Amino acid sequence: MTIASAPTTASSAGHVNQTQPIEIRAFDGPVGAEVLGLDLGKPLSQDDFARIHRAHLDHHVLVFRDQRITPDQQVAFSRRFGPLQIHVLHQFQLPGYPEVLVVSNIVENGQPIGLGDAGHYWHSDLSYKEKPSLGSLLHAQELPSEGGDTLFANMHLAWETLPEHLRSAVQGRSAEHTYLAKYAELQKRSPWRPNLSAEQIAQVKPVVQPIVRTHPETGRRALFVSEHFTTRVIGLPEDESKSLLEEIFAHSVRPEHLYRHQWAEHDMVFWDNRSLMHLAAGTPDHLRRKLYRTTIEGDVPF
Ligand code: SIN
Repeated sequence: MTIASAPTTASSAGHVNQTQPIEIRAFDGPVGAEVLGLDLGKPLSQDDFARIHRAHLDHHVLVFRDQRITPDQQVAFSRRFGPLQIHVLHQFQLPGYPEVLVVSNIVENGQPIGLGDAGHYWHSDLSYKEKPSLGSLLHAQELPSEGGDTLFANMHLAWETLPEHLRSAVQGRSAEHTYLAKYAELQKRSPWRPNLSAEQIAQVKPVVQPIVRTHPETGRRALFVSEHFTTRVIGLPEDESKSLLEEIFAHSVRPEHLYRHQWAEHDMVFWDNRSLMHLAAGTPDHLRRKLYRTTIEGDVPF
């Protein structure tokens, strides 16, 4: 689907009123669209904001190419959608920008400059918080010549195509999510997982989330469990919970539910964590990759 509009102006004192020539081009796949004609460095008019908001709800992943914007501009654009969340690993904040998490495998002077294994397992950002992320924005700063892709899984489709026996097994059930679920495992194999302070651990207490959530803006239902953060189904014996979760994870990431993003210089990608899970496909160790991530706070899932 392509929706194009010509630039227009409408005066209103003190407000941005210049619209940009936006075109939304849906990908030929289960999720995603490219937004053409929008410069995220410019303040967004109310009309343009409404179109981007609508496209985000419809397509779940939006790709904005060649955005030569600053962290201030990324933060300003992200804030249009809600308050921003600060990641518990404050070690990897961009200096001067607590809302920006540096996602990078680069090590300088023996110190990682960012979180290098972010997205190693399928997940929805901050599902371990009472109010998980509405959406996340990732802006490419430095890209490897190979690898480094990000995959997205459409969790609405995953729910809608879930076999009946799994549907009835999860209907009305909740699951526990915890940030620490895979932390020790990740710590063993990477330099990017510092020991957490008592204060950091207190910020990420386990939470219970519905296994099937309703998108608060579209009313569409989606599976809301992930291999990274979901530890158990409440009320089931451990072995049953484990095998149920494994079946759901395997179904969720079937190829027909996926979009694979191959990054280009200055790409900005904005996804909906209420509709999707994502995964970093991995970067060869000898190649550098750096992106800036902002996350927008969402609602308590229901
Ligand atoms: C993330 O999980 O936010 C990072 C994804 C990526 O680095 O591709």
